[in-house]
Amino acid sequence: MTALSFKLEKSGSARTGRLRLPHAEVETPCFMPVGSQATIKTLTPDEVAAIGYKLILANNYHLYLRPGTEVVEGYGGLHQFMGWDGALLTDSGGYQVFSLSPLRKVTDAGVTFRSHIDGSEHFFSPELAIKYQESFGADIIMALDECPPVEGSRDVITAAVARTHDWAERCLKAKTRTDQALFPIIQGGLHTDLRLRSAEGLVALDFPGYAVGGLAIGESKDQTIEITAAVTDVLPVDKPRYLMGVGSPEDIIRAVAAGVDMFDSALPTRVARNGALFTRQGRIDIVNARYQGDKNPIETGCACPACTSFSAGYVHHLFRAKELLGHRLATLHNLYFMSRLMADIRQAIVAGRYGDFARDFLADYRPTDE
Ligand code: GUN
Ligand code: ZN
Repeated sequence: MTALSFKLEKSGSARTGRLRLPHAEVETPCFMPVGSQATIKTLTPDEVAAIGYKLILANNYHLYLRPGTEVVEGYGGLHQFMGWDGALLTDSGGYQVFSLSPLRKVTDAGVTFRSHIDGSEHFFSPELAIKYQESFGADIIMALDECPPVEGSRDVITAAVARTHDWAERCLKAKTRTDQALFPIIQGGLHTDLRLRSAEGLVALDFPGYAVGGLAIGESKDQTIEITAAVTDVLPVDKPRYLMGVGSPEDIIRAVAAGVDMFDSALPTRVARNGALFTRQGRIDIVNARYQGDKNPIETGCACPACTSFSAGYVHHLFRAKELLGHRLATLHNLYFMSRLMADIRQAIVAGRYGDFARDFLADYRPTDE
């Protein structure tokens, strides 16, 4: 069995396609909800599937530390452990080691780091990152990468590109399962020439798909899109492109125009738990006093489980009273919004009117920082 097949349905700078994975067939461009700890926070797998998702993320760093790879392996893998029968992607943990671990040391061999949970010391090599991700059994697994800070010196970023390339090659060699697709991660900071070096080097190794990492970590939105467009320009047309950690509706709209097929971000679920709810006009703060007694849904016309059964005033009350149902309804609404947005994006591309769709969306949508 080949782990992944990708068929473009409509090509062009913004594209639609079908991604066939062992556990699901997914239409692209797609958004993947983030479940680092083997849960989309507050929701059951049935609820995630019911609002349109077939492919979600989990994280090698989090699950290796807790509950541990051998525990998950004891269930036969992540699908069985978490009760999700759709497709899964695990991130290698490269990024989390750099963002969460209080201490780390990188050498060509791998990265030694301390757990953000109990301070214990651990080591990831490219080979171990593959071994652990093979025991989790996700449909798509990610190569171990070094994600340098965007403000890093050119020398630091050049070295990270070289190391990330070497590690991707070692991941490819270490891989034993044939029912998982391995994606490498393009690094290079904000240097277009380093980005192209990273992309072209990885393309020469022939992977089934390519990810762009090290973005949406402090640079401007224009820079994110500019680098993304430069990179997709040198990627093979017939392979899926995944922009990691992006993002907000406005960033996704622009990155789709730059040829990206897959996205993930914790943003919709994280801000939901603070009462920030997506609408086509921008985010609203449901905790605000203006929603007290409001009998309208969060967003008129929204077909999500929160908007079809409850009023904005009720969700406001749940947040004021710190009731957990508020978190669940807010998460359902935001993830439904993203799933619906991606379906609208795909429909506009197929109809050949993506330019108009993007312009109209961005004219109505008021972005929020963060
Ligand atoms: N998630 C968001 N950005 C990155 C990145 O650069 N590397 C990895 N491994 N995961 C990410
Ligand atoms: Zn809704």
